[in-house]
Amino acid sequence: MSIIDNKKQPSFHIRTFGCQMNDRDSEIMGQLLAEQGYVESMEIEDADVVIVNTCSIRAKAEQKAMSLLGALRKAKKSRPGMRICVAGCVAQQEGLELCERMSHVDLVLGTQNLYALADLLKNLDGTQKVAITLSDAYEIPAFIPTLPAIREYSVDQIDSNPAPASHPFRKFLTIMQGCNNFCTYCVVPYTRGREVSRKVKDILDEAHALVDAGISEITLLGQNVNSYGRTNSVTPDGGSYSFSQLLREVAAIQGLKRLRFTTSNPKDLSSELMRCFGEIAILCPQFHLPVQSGSNAVLSRMNRKYTRELYLQQVKELRSFRPDIALSTDVIVGFPGESDADFEQTMELLEEVRFHSSFSFKYSDRPGTRSADFADKVEELVKSERLTRFQHRQDEICLEQNLLYVGKVLPVMIEKLTQDGMVGRTESNHIVHIEGKIACIPGDITSVTIHHAGRHSLNGRLNSTQQKGAA
Ligand code: SAH
Ligand code: SF4
Ligand code: F3S
Repeated sequence: MSIIDNKKQPSFHIRTFGCQMNDRDSEIMGQLLAEQGYVESMEIEDADVVIVNTCSIRAKAEQKAMSLLGALRKAKKSRPGMRICVAGCVAQQEGLELCERMSHVDLVLGTQNLYALADLLKNLDGTQKVAITLSDAYEIPAFIPTLPAIREYSVDQIDSNPAPASHPFRKFLTIMQGCNNFCTYCVVPYTRGREVSRKVKDILDEAHALVDAGISEITLLGQNVNSYGRTNSVTPDGGSYSFSQLLREVAAIQGLKRLRFTTSNPKDLSSELMRCFGEIAILCPQFHLPVQSGSNAVLSRMNRKYTRELYLQQVKELRSFRPDIALSTDVIVGFPGESDADFEQTMELLEEVRFHSSFSFKYSDRPGTRSADFADKVEELVKSERLTRFQHRQDEICLEQNLLYVGKVLPVMIEKLTQDGMVGRTESNHIVHIEGKIACIPGDITSVTIHHAGRHSLNGRLNSTQQKGAA
């Protein structure tokens, strides 16, 4: 008997680990289940179906998902009807072995098999284990999201009925899957498969559907968006088509207020794309450009295929098109063979670029990657010292960069209304805590004077003319 036959409204709960790709995949799985009559359960223990959407990018990420799965063994003992599904990158890598290691897991769903979820669940009777993982021939299905209607709020309602945090006003839109770059430390090419770009038409249809449903901001998503359209044809006539062209087409959709994209690899970053920052009005001046290391020797062993000189040149060019662009990056410290001198070069690069923010990680061996077999592993203690040094200096720079916003009047997109004000985001993606309220819905843009900057957020107040209905 399947769960859906047994109960009128079976419930599901999804826990997501890892990157925005996984966030988006979780949303898709949630929608597929809702279409089949499932309702979302707030508590994991109460759900009939629990989906753990895993990440294996670093050892720590994998451990977090594994410890949740461990805890679910007990939950399932007290609710034997519970079905447990493991999705995402660990699921893809381990397949059926995961069911063998964890007997309470019912379903293992590979990264390209999301759309089979509802059908697979129908046939799960609790006795057999099912694992499906990616295939070679893959095309991302056309997918039109359905979204709840946007509710209007009046100022009177704000205090008594604050907007739910999950009110949809901003969405990710997947434009490609997989990665062909094989950076030597990275599992993604193994967990997400070869790079496949979605058809332009499918992307534009989805973007239009989002904007028609009231979405104000779209982030185009892929592991390496700069190479969109290079590995398979994305237009009906099979002609060449670039990521910059896609950006311009999405930006032209009437009603869309903000556009972002992530992630980019410097080796594929074209001047044509950099120019977009100066030419597309709704493209936010914010760019995540992972550098990984400031040392050419390390970059070469990472198989990144660019140099620190090229990276610095790109930063210069980006700033020439958009002087206020907020740059962020990813850095790995303690890659095998990274010497003190190599690390100093990463610190120097940080001083030269002065990133608005960064994500920095200690290198960890991942199964199946080339660097897992490299000699000269860096000691854990040295990795920790380097990470602390990098993060400490980056924190100082964050604050110094954020202080430059003080006194400026910036357009801020409202995200939520709180008891004593509102929270929103600047075009540069900084969170702003705003004093005062106006009648608005999440996704509206209002102008805010910044009066204080912290390391990770800004504070501002509404311009006085806007505060007429404020509490
Ligand atoms: N596609 C993106 C990054 C995806 S993974 C890109 O090309 O940059 C996100 C970040 O995790 C990477 O940028 C890298 O900094 C980090 N990372 C990946 N593998 C890692 C490993 N084995 N150890 C430590 N950090 C790692
Ligand atoms: Fe991993 Fe490199 Fe691909 Fe990014 S570009 S996903 S770091 S292999
Ligand atoms: Fe993690 Fe997979 Fe994303 S390994 S970072 S969830 S692509």
